[in-house]
Amino acid sequence: MNQDSPQNTIQRHHHITLCTGGAQEDYDFHTKVLSLKSVKKTALYDGNYPIYHLYYGNDLGQESTLVTSFPMRQSGRKGRKGTGQTTALTLSIPVSAIAFWRKRLADHGFALGETERFGERILQFQHPCGIDYELAAIADDARKPYSNGEVPPELAIRGTHGITVSVRDLEASEEFMGLAWNARRLTTDGKYLRYVFGEGGTGRIVDFVAETRLPPATWTFGEGIVHHCAFQVKDYDVQDAVKANLEGLGYTDTSERKDRGYFDSIYVRTPSGALFEATVSKPKGMLTDEGFDELGTSFKVPPVFANRTKEIMEYLEPLKY
Ligand SMILES: [Fe+2]
Repeated sequence: MNQDSPQNTIQRHHHITLCTGGAQEDYDFHTKVLSLKSVKKTALYDGNYPIYHLYYGNDLGQESTLVTSFPMRQSGRKGRKGTGQTTALTLSIPVSAIAFWRKRLADHGFALGETERFGERILQFQHPCGIDYELAAIADDARKPYSNGEVPPELAIRGTHGITVSVRDLEASEEFMGLAWNARRLTTDGKYLRYVFGEGGTGRIVDFVAETRLPPATWTFGEGIVHHCAFQVKDYDVQDAVKANLEGLGYTDTSERKDRGYFDSIYVRTPSGALFEATVSKPKGMLTDEGFDELGTSFKVPPVFANRTKEIMEYLEPLKY
């Protein structure tokens, strides 16, 4: 009997989800400054009170181009940065676009840092709510960018590049990545340790950094932190195999499959504390409830609030788009 964990189950990022500040602030940052397309406007599918769930990506909102956010300011709930959480997200831009983005971000008033990690040039700044955000200059990223944003396609963001996860203890995360998440340990650069999926490359990266003296970051929905990273798996059979493998390893608190409207997901709290999700896109993805021409243009009421539409629309903060 082959007891190896299933190979190539985790393919790449599916989406990265943030707990941000004001809805308008988040919307303007992602759609105007970063020039991503608003591909879905809905709300969290869980809970008793609605929280916006805003999706940004390329023309179709394809897997690994998606950043999503829960604007939390309305709730008054704050997150706390620290270790045991995803602490930064990195998106991919063409190498030829780095000077353009340096100027664009500065012109929009963002304080910029610049560094090189794993041989990649990186612009560092913060989302207006304080989340650490990066753009990495990547050659030959074949993903199609949003074709109709403020930024011309040849300079535009291609999609996710990587996430950085802060951990107290690398050993448990290394075991998780190898045995449960089918990742490959690539290399280190200073304090950073890089894991990749499949053939690796942009959109298939998780970097770990050991930070033993930071307080634990919050896990709940609260302004100013990354909430989780979702990873694409091919189909339900693979998702079931990932879940069974997790449970067989002792991660018995892996969630059941949850219907998120545009994809189906299982969630696991990884040993570091960072929440990971294994996601199967529905056949029509973001087009499940809107045609291409209407994508992202109207608010989609989550099923959990279907009989409270008027109430939740009155409750949610105004959003101009
Ligand atoms: Fe998610």
